[in-house]
Amino acid sequence: MNLLEVKNICKIYGNGETAVKALKDVSFSVPKGEYVAIVGESGSGKSTLLNMIGALDTPTSGKVLIDGKDIFCMNDKKLTVFRRRNIGFIFQAFNLVPELTVEQNIIFPVLLDYQKPDKKYLEELLAVLNLKERRNHLPSQLSGGQQQRVAIGRALITRPSLILADEPTGNLDSQNSSEVIALLKETSKKYEQTIIMITHNRSIAQTADRVLQVSDGALTDFGRCRE
Ligand SMILES: Nc1ncnc2c1ncn2[C@@H]1O[C@H](COP(=O)(O)OP(=O)(O)O)[C@@H](O)[C@H]1O
Ligand SMILES: [Mg+2]
Repeated sequence: MNLLEVKNICKIYGNGETAVKALKDVSFSVPKGEYVAIVGESGSGKSTLLNMIGALDTPTSGKVLIDGKDIFCMNDKKLTVFRRRNIGFIFQAFNLVPELTVEQNIIFPVLLDYQKPDKKYLEELLAVLNLKERRNHLPSQLSGGQQQRVAIGRALITRPSLILADEPTGNLDSQNSSEVIALLKETSKKYEQTIIMITHNRSIAQTADRVLQVSDGALTDFGRCRE
């Protein structure tokens, strides 16, 4: 079964003369565990598409199914819980809470969901992300690459089936970028997660299982890189 199905998504911002057609009838599906890169020029609609998939915004028309569930048919409360439990977000700006330590930032989504953090899994994540020695540091005491690794930990702690990343290496140098991408790949294979990642970087896109391109709101599927 497909983990994600995007069906005929259209998004129009504004109306009348100033209306912007940001997405034009976009459809695609992604099997469980696949790692998809989304490429395209600035302003082509990539973030709009990712925000629809993560239900951070609603489409003008069309559907998004995650694990067979139509997310826009859920009420706000149900959708919030569904998103928290099933989707991990990683953005270009790391969006860490400055007053919280590395460890506290990572377990934050679990606390938001009134759950207890899985200590063993937290230790495993800290080890995989190479953050064990930084667990009690504040974000301001970390490099950009380390901060993004904390953001990845925070996205993974709830064991989401879907990871949505919008230019996660946009603020990193090439060394840190490769490390972050390698980590994302490794963890997604290990925990059987599906990744949809926007990137400007061609060599990063080439590490994906499949590349989709958005141009002027329309989608082209370049197919699978390796069979
Ligand atoms: N909230 C918004 N209101 C109006 N127009 C928007 C909004 N968000 C994005 N757009 C427009 O939609 C188009 C696609 O934007 P976006 O998805 O952010 O592109 P990308 O991520 O590929 O750079 C652009 O023309 C942008 O100006
Ligand atoms: Mg964008």
